[in-house]
Amino acid sequence: MATLVTSVDDIPEDGSYLFTVEAADGETEEVILVRLEDGVSAWKNFCQHETDQRLDLGEGVARRDDQIICPKHGSAFDVGSGYCGNGPAAGSTLEEVDVTVRHGQVYLTDDDLEFSHEGGSDEDDTPGSSSHLRF
Ligand code: FES
Repeated sequence: MATLVTSVDDIPEDGSYLFTVEAADGETEEVILVRLEDGVSAWKNFCQHETDQRLDLGEGVARRDDQIICPKHGSAFDVGSGYCGNGPAAGSTLEEVDVTVRHGQVYLTDDDLEFSHEGGSDEDDTPGSSSHLRF
């Protein structure tokens, strides 16, 4: 199943779009969408150095060129591959989430995750997934 998350145009070019998903065990996790030159990538919103450290604190990630910069110790993750070539998390890779872009819209297509709501996991006062189209 694919669930509409947002449109590509709503993802800031110099930041990220934050949303929350629910795993099969009912746990919620945050996901970030970031723009690529030719599309969009999606990653779990935590650093590989300290996994309780969020990359997007609610205001969008810090980006430098084609890298996501961890706000805590500055590890730099490639926006396309998720690979960290620089900083304390060097050699690690962000956890990828499957998304698909169709006609300028971003859909969550990860079999293990269900769309929960826009924003971070503690902002669950927005209407549920009923407001999001599925196909
Ligand atoms: S927590 Fe991200 S680099 Fe240390």
